[in-house]
Amino acid sequence: MIPQLTLEIENKTTVEQLQYLAEKFAGKIAFSTSFGQEDQAITDMIFRNNIPISVFTLDTGRFFPETYKVWQKTLDTYPGSRIEVAFPDAKQVEKMVSEKGPFSFYESVENRKECCNIRKVYPLGKVLIDCELWITGLRAEQSQARAELQYFELDAGFGITKYNPLKDWSLPQTVEYLKANNVPYNELHDKGFISIGCQPCTRAISADEDIRAGRWWWEDKSKKECGLHDTKESDVKVKVGKIM
Ligand code: ADX
Ligand code: SF4
Repeated sequence: MIPQLTLEIENKTTVEQLQYLAEKFAGKIAFSTSFGQEDQAITDMIFRNNIPISVFTLDTGRFFPETYKVWQKTLDTYPGSRIEVAFPDAKQVEKMVSEKGPFSFYESVENRKECCNIRKVYPLGKVLIDCELWITGLRAEQSQARAELQYFELDAGFGITKYNPLKDWSLPQTVEYLKANNVPYNELHDKGFISIGCQPCTRAISADEDIRAGRWWWEDKSKKECGLHDTKESDVKVKVGKIM
């Protein structure tokens, strides 16, 4: 299926690819946004062209206020647009925070992964149950772990095909797209933030730092995936996807 899909989108622009896939996977195709620059570019292509792709976000409850602002601004910019939201399971969050406090993720990689699983990975599993194609804003340039990124990949954990339309885009190209099309963006990008996740786990970076240096900065570089895109934790995802 993956080689075939890759052939089918060859020689198409990104918008044409999205249109083509929306038709092919009608009603079973969804795009996950965390309102980063890449995500805003894809969101613009979907909403501006009225492409029938469901757009959803995993609201961890720990986003920056600026992220909620760009979320609202996006809804205001594209009349009639809809962004689905998936929240974490309240009971799981209550248990974790009651037992370990509101900043457990700083204490160990294990605690951090527990928090990412509860607030992001499990809710993603629930959304993807109804999908056949999952679109992301990943770019190959973002990190070593993403260097080999392909347009289509099988995510064994969620048992779904993933489509990464911006895999070859550079950061300047992404920024330029937003500017040229007057797309709303997170104002933190003007304050030294590039990759933006949850507020307690994201900091601004300086010009000489790696673009993901501001994410979970207290951890070893090799541990810096939250589980959304880390197929090594696939067994966790499958379990969650099936039972929740
Ligand atoms: S992460 O795994 O380190 O958090 P990153 O922030 O680089 O991922 O985002 C990569 C892609 O993952 C985004 O383009 C988006 O498709 C998806 N993503 C990340 N966080 C979320 C979120 N909270 N809600 C929805 N999608 C997300
Ligand atoms: Fe929890 Fe931080 Fe992961 Fe957000 S990024 S889910 S706050 S550990």
